[in-house]
This record gives sequence, C-alpha cells and structure tokens, in this order.
Amino acid sequence: MTNSNLKIGQVDLIDDEIAEESIAEEIERIKLERGALILAHNYQPPIIQEIADYVGDSLGLARKAAQTDARVVVFCGVHFMAETAYILSPDKIVLLPEPEAGCPLADMADPESVLKLKEENPDALVVSYVNTTASVKAVSDYCCTSANAAKIVSAVASRKVVFVPDRNLASYVSSVVEKEIIPFPGFCPVHEGILTAQIEQVLQEHPSAEVIAHPECRKEVISMAHYVRSTSGMIDAALSSKANEFVVATEEGMLYPLEKNVHGKRFFPPAGEHICADMKKITLTKVLKSLQTLEPRIVVPDETRIKALRAVERMLELG
Ligand code: 13P
Ligand code: SF4
Repeated sequence: MTNSNLKIGQVDLIDDEIAEESIAEEIERIKLERGALILAHNYQPPIIQEIADYVGDSLGLARKAAQTDARVVVFCGVHFMAETAYILSPDKIVLLPEPEAGCPLADMADPESVLKLKEENPDALVVSYVNTTASVKAVSDYCCTSANAAKIVSAVASRKVVFVPDRNLASYVSSVVEKEIIPFPGFCPVHEGILTAQIEQVLQEHPSAEVIAHPECRKEVISMAHYVRSTSGMIDAALSSKANEFVVATEEGMLYPLEKNVHGKRFFPPAGEHICADMKKITLTKVLKSLQTLEPRIVVPDETRIKALRAVERMLELG
C-alpha cells in the first residue's frame, strides 16, 4: 500500500508504528552505550516484551538480576520486582521507568503486622512471597515466588509457617505441603477477580480446553485447574501438555508470551477483564527516558536491604 492510498486512521496507525520503531531503535542504541540490561515481566505490554533482553516470572527475573554483569538494569515490571533486583545487586543502577508502578498485593502487608503474627506464633518461621516490600522481606525468614512457594515452605525448618501476604497462595501451598500455614489475609485484586463462572463460560465453547491457573487465584478456581503454575511455568505446562486449547486464569498479558512460545495451540482468557493496571504503566517512551536520564532509580537503605537479602538469598539457595 502506498501512502497516497491510506485513509486518515491508517496514517495515524502507521505513524504510531514508525514512532514506536524509532523509539525502540533508540532504546537499543542507548542500552548498548549504557551497558544496560532490560528485564520484563510476562504481564508487560507486548511492545515492552519485544525490546527486553529477558522476559520471565518473578523468580527468573530475580535470578537474572543476581547474575548479570550489566551496570544498569531497567526493570519493566512493578516496584517490588525492581526492589528485589536492587536488594541482590546494590552495586548496579536499578531503574523502574514508572516509579508509580506498584503492586496492591505487596502494599497489603506491613512489617508491624508481620512482626505481630510472628510474636503470636513464636514456633513458626515467616515465609514472604516476593510480592512484598523490602521492609516486609527484612522481617521474614525466607522469601518465595509462585514458582517455588511449595518447595520453600516444605524445606523450612519449622512445622508451622506464617505465610505473607497472599491468602490464596497460602491456601494452595497448604493443599500440597503437610505443614500448618498461618495465612496473612492479603490477595491480588486481579486474580481474586477471576471467577469459576467466567472460566466455565469459556469452557462451554471449548470443552476440551485445559485450565491453567496462577496460584494467586481463588481456591475454587485452583480446584478447576489442570495446572497451577507461575507465569513462566504456564509456558512449560502448555508445551508439555497434550491438549491444544487452554483457558488461562491469570492477568491477560500472559496470553502474549504463551502465544509467542507455544506454537499451534490456542489460549483463551476467562470471561471479563483481568488486567493489572500497574503492569501496564511502563511505556516505550518511559523506558527510553529512563535510559537517557538513568532515573528513576530504585534504592533500598542498607539497614533494610541487608536483612531482606538474607530472606531472598535463602530462597535462591533452596529453589
Ligand atoms: P509470577 O512470579 O508467577 O510471574 O507472578 C508475579 C505476579 O505478580 C503475579 O500476579
Ligand atoms: Fe500485584 Fe496482582 Fe498486579 Fe501481580 S497481578 S503485580 S500480584 S496486583
């Protein structure tokens, strides 16, 4: 199609694409100049996943942040993820292109409430989900992610475990590990919003589809699932399953990496809208600006960082 054949809306669209392409090229150029690594979570917008050096789940991203030699890490995700990267690599510049990209689940737990639970349960160890602030990690014995929660809880040296902050993940872990779990009452509003009826609605049209659920989903959704996995674990489950169709009970951004990595299979979101607004706050323009200015930086004061590091390192050693 020549430009003269284009209608106004199409011109806008192509202009946007050209603009995105040139921003992406400039990001690539300045990234090399800065010696930067771009990490992106599986829920990030496709355009951000495309410019990233690595796309993954919280565990994969934490591992990459710990291993990289890059001087600068641009974290395309939410605050606790960038904070975890800094906890592991304080010698690096860790950038979060949109500092307001938070996690409502992480914000539900504060260190005082965790210390109170600890006091009420002196025989328990505290395992905190990575979706917590650095100050909550600092009062925890172990950290975990959705990929290794059951493994970490079963490995810790107490029969009783205070699990912070996600009650749904706590309930899932207690269904697969024989320990007494004291759950903190937090939840992810996006996953809590996924209902069994919304999955059933899709299954009516695709009766042979298997259900893959994130462990932050409600208990009744987990009960319907053929696979309960972290976001990256969902890709492995879909690759190894014999099924060709899947209902994916998680934030809808996950459909992009699934379709990109698992060819010839079909993925459907549950009915309704299940979007993490915070994950969508990162844009190409913000990534570019952040590389140009080396701001906004995520820093955790050493007093908190060193205590939080203990919990994160114990997790990386175990799982
Ligand atoms: P994953 O570690 O499974 O990617 O989950 C992170 C998250 O925030 C899910 O809502
Ligand atoms: Fe936090 Fe939920 Fe968004 Fe994950 S999907 S970042 S848990 S609010």
